[in-house]
Amino acid sequence: MLLHTVAALLQAQVPGVPERRITDIFKPLAGPAEAEYQIALFTLAITAAIFVVVAGLIVFTIVRFRRRPGEDARQEPPQVYGSNQIEVAWTVIPILIVFVLIGVTARVVASVQNASPPPSTLKITLIGHQWWWEVVYPDYGIVSANEIHVPVTAGGKTATYLQLQSIDVIHSFWVPQLSGKVDLIPNRSNYMWINPRETGVYVGNCAEYCGTQHANMLLRVIAQTPADFHKWATEEQKSATDDPQTSDARAIFGSLSCVNCHTVKGTPAVGKFGPDLTHLMNRQTLAAGMLPNNAETLRAWVNDPQEIKPGCFMPGMKLTDQELKQVVSYLQSLK
Ligand code: CUA
Repeated sequence: MLLHTVAALLQAQVPGVPERRITDIFKPLAGPAEAEYQIALFTLAITAAIFVVVAGLIVFTIVRFRRRPGEDARQEPPQVYGSNQIEVAWTVIPILIVFVLIGVTARVVASVQNASPPPSTLKITLIGHQWWWEVVYPDYGIVSANEIHVPVTAGGKTATYLQLQSIDVIHSFWVPQLSGKVDLIPNRSNYMWINPRETGVYVGNCAEYCGTQHANMLLRVIAQTPADFHKWATEEQKSATDDPQTSDARAIFGSLSCVNCHTVKGTPAVGKFGPDLTHLMNRQTLAAGMLPNNAETLRAWVNDPQEIKPGCFMPGMKLTDQELKQVVSYLQSLK
């Protein structure tokens, strides 16, 4: 089952967008990640130099002053007490190094935090929930989940600004190729921006322990060409399909308590507790990136989410086979 799921997840791709299953801070592809990468290299260089000096002195001492044949093992080496010069040197040099590291780090943090949004900025409000991400596009009237569609930057002149909030506990946004970690904290807004240079699906994680299913709170940032992004946004703005063929299934769905937690735009389902399902089938994954989104996984999920993601807030609905079939077929019509 597990291998099967992993294989299927690897195939859960967005057409026309390369999949980047990389969570590598050494391959930055956006402004903030690039700035942090540079400072990481600088810090690594300094600490590597310290390591070489200290390890070199240790090796030199071990070799140079080892016991040689014929020496008396009981004889102590000459005892030396105090040297002002050496003590000043090994106090002042580390202090200088620490201040240099603080200075350059503060400069990078400030430059990322204080960067002013370019005029054509996409605004997204990202809201952390146990254990999924609500993705709101206030200027477009779009509410989605777990998969964040953004346009790639046009020559560094455009960017996506994220307002980060939490509905329950502290979560943390982290997509290593795009930016460093920023916490999502209840009753407060934090901000981060990303400007992916290349199209692709960038993967990330919640990076702050937030409860049982913290490890299954995965992020996907889908960076598209501006044209593809606008095509996606136009589709997302529409109300849910009301294909007459699905009207029976839709009635069953509407009669169940699903509607208390989920919204399907244009229907009486207006719940806010769980992910918006209006365009569910346009998402590649289910359960915050855990499963590829297809008929089989959708059925397993609706049948008993607790089996797949124990502790999550969606209960197994104890549906009859017929209801399950209808609900899944309705959900599958939500494109
Ligand atoms: Cu959300 Cu960890």
